[in-house]
Amino acid sequence: MNEVLATIKARRSVRKFAPGEVSDEDLTAILDAGRWAPSGKNTQPWRFIVVRSPEKRQALAALVPQDRMIATAPVTIAVMYDRTAGYNGFKDAQAIGAAIENILLAVHSLGLAACWMGKIRNPAIEAVVEARDFEELAALIPLGRPGEVPTPPSRLSRDEIVRYT
Ligand SMILES: Cc1cc2nc3c(=O)[nH]c(=O)nc-3n(C[C@H](O)[C@H](O)[C@H](O)COP(=O)(O)O)c2cc1C
Repeated sequence: MNEVLATIKARRSVRKFAPGEVSDEDLTAILDAGRWAPSGKNTQPWRFIVVRSPEKRQALAALVPQDRMIATAPVTIAVMYDRTAGYNGFKDAQAIGAAIENILLAVHSLGLAACWMGKIRNPAIEAVVEARDFEELAALIPLGRPGEVPTPPSRLSRDEIVRYT
């Protein structure tokens, strides 16, 4: 199996972080992976807000307490949807999903860990990350050093999801 396929299969949602920082070099590579995602008409409707300061991380963690993920991750990326950049809500959402998956794969490829957090429709969170009026929070991605190796959750079988015609 080549490296890309191996990374796709081995990536997991990691919900426990070990102590340790994420280097600027790794963070740049991770953000660049998001930047190079495909988007309809190449509109690139994503914006990435990096939350790294202890004060902001604490404020965010209070609003999104699940498993203390944000509290313990050294970095959280807030993925924003820039409504003025997009052109079709459904297609823009697909593009943002592609950017998030690119980010998760880059994180895993660097030996780091992350989790896609979607339960975040809350204006208080948008205020903490200083979202602009025309931006909507699409996801939060806490990332850091892995503190667990999750058992892979099952997947539907090929027979259940693939049809040939
Ligand atoms: C749109 C979306 C929202 C998600 N929201 C959360 C979340 O709020 N909290 C969480 O722990 N995991 C969240 N996840 C991660 C999923 O639970 C996870 O991807 C799924 O269980 C499969 O596990 P895997 O990522 O390890 O393959 C989300 C994933 C997606 C795609």
